[in-house]
Amino acid sequence: KQSGLTALDYGFVNTASTRSAITYIDGNEGILRYRGYPIEQLAQNSTYLEVAWLLIYGELPTADELGAFDERIRRHTLLHEDLKRFFSALPHTAHPMSVLSSAVSALSTYYEDTSDPENPDHVEMTTMRLLAKLPVIAAYAHKKSVGQAFLYPDNSLSFVDNFLRLNFGNLAEPYEIDPTLSKALDRLLILHEDHEQNASTSTVRLVGSTGANLYASISAGINALYGPLHGGANEAVLQMLARIQDSGESVAKFVERVKNKEDGVKLMGFGHRVYKNYDPRAKLVKESADAVLAGLGVNDPLLDLAKELEQIALEDDYFKERRLYPNVDFYTGVIYKAMGFPTRMFTVLFAIGRLPGWIAHWREMNADPATKIGRPQQLYTGAGERQFPQR
Ligand code: CMC
Repeated sequence: KQSGLTALDYGFVNTASTRSAITYIDGNEGILRYRGYPIEQLAQNSTYLEVAWLLIYGELPTADELGAFDERIRRHTLLHEDLKRFFSALPHTAHPMSVLSSAVSALSTYYEDTSDPENPDHVEMTTMRLLAKLPVIAAYAHKKSVGQAFLYPDNSLSFVDNFLRLNFGNLAEPYEIDPTLSKALDRLLILHEDHEQNASTSTVRLVGSTGANLYASISAGINALYGPLHGGANEAVLQMLARIQDSGESVAKFVERVKNKEDGVKLMGFGHRVYKNYDPRAKLVKESADAVLAGLGVNDPLLDLAKELEQIALEDDYFKERRLYPNVDFYTGVIYKAMGFPTRMFTVLFAIGRLPGWIAHWREMNADPATKIGRPQQLYTGAGERQFPQR
């Protein structure tokens, strides 16, 4: 027995790493609440920025507080001009998630004297900068990938409209705001804002626990989100649906291959570590998929394919026994596609959504006197002591 080692827990299935007052999940009942407010009510009545304030500061903002917060974020949208050259140094084929995490890391180099994690004013300033600049970096990663000119932010626009214009506007003509699009995107972002100790949030906390600043911690969180078992699943779902469509394989045949674990193929967008019942976010996304596509005048056979896949899986014993249900990533891709985002931008949208949650957790961790550097143990399985050969 190794001294001090109490339990082995692959994937932290049974180990709580912290106390937290931010988000409550009951996976058996399919309940998700931010600071006590049910996700359904927030998605229906609130906005991304209001929920960001709620997560970060703990209470809903007053109208004045929200106005000042919005104003402050608008003032920080510009990127340093030199940072534009960072984008030109990358290949146009670069995955936007790699661009995003690298750019956030690079961002810290411009603000080294105002990013001390121990200084509350610096933390506040960094919070505003990240919330304001991440969408701009994301849009530039998109523009770069399609070979179009970057636009400067228009701070007369709301957070979401500014982001949409930066992605879909161009220098030649004015950008027309589509309220259906803005509302739908704002709602999707709310659904992604926090999810307690998921892999990327735990990464943000772990990196932050070393005393690293918020930029470094968020950049690490973006990298953790990139993987297909986490945020990258929304991209993987669309690729999976497109592959089924292109191959002409029947949905039932594909499900059989998943059940047989053929080549490790999984039903992407299904299953969750915590939800053993329908993911409440997936329910909301599914509800809006039809409405959003109709509102945008898009008819996508991939939505029908997704519904057929869900139906077959939900009735199948393999999925029932393992309590596998659609998660938040199952239907979002179809909506993002209808909005005009390329598949490789999907996880970037997740990152923008999750940013307030990451910041809230980093700040909660830093303010908690019980916080210690994160340092998991291991069970050593290697060789015993041996002697280096005499030569
Ligand atoms: N398709 C087929 N089988 C699955 C799936 C799936 N999507 N998910 C889990 N299983 C099976 C798994 O093979 C295992 O079977 P068995 O008992 O025969 O070995 C059983 O269900 C339990 O799964 P697990 O891998 O032990 O579960 P986990 O809690 O470690 O993993 C998960 C959770 C989300 C990584 C996993 O369900 C998965 O890989 N899903 C697909 C990827 C995905 O959609 N990820 C997004 C998660 S939600 C949003 C987010 O966090 O970004």
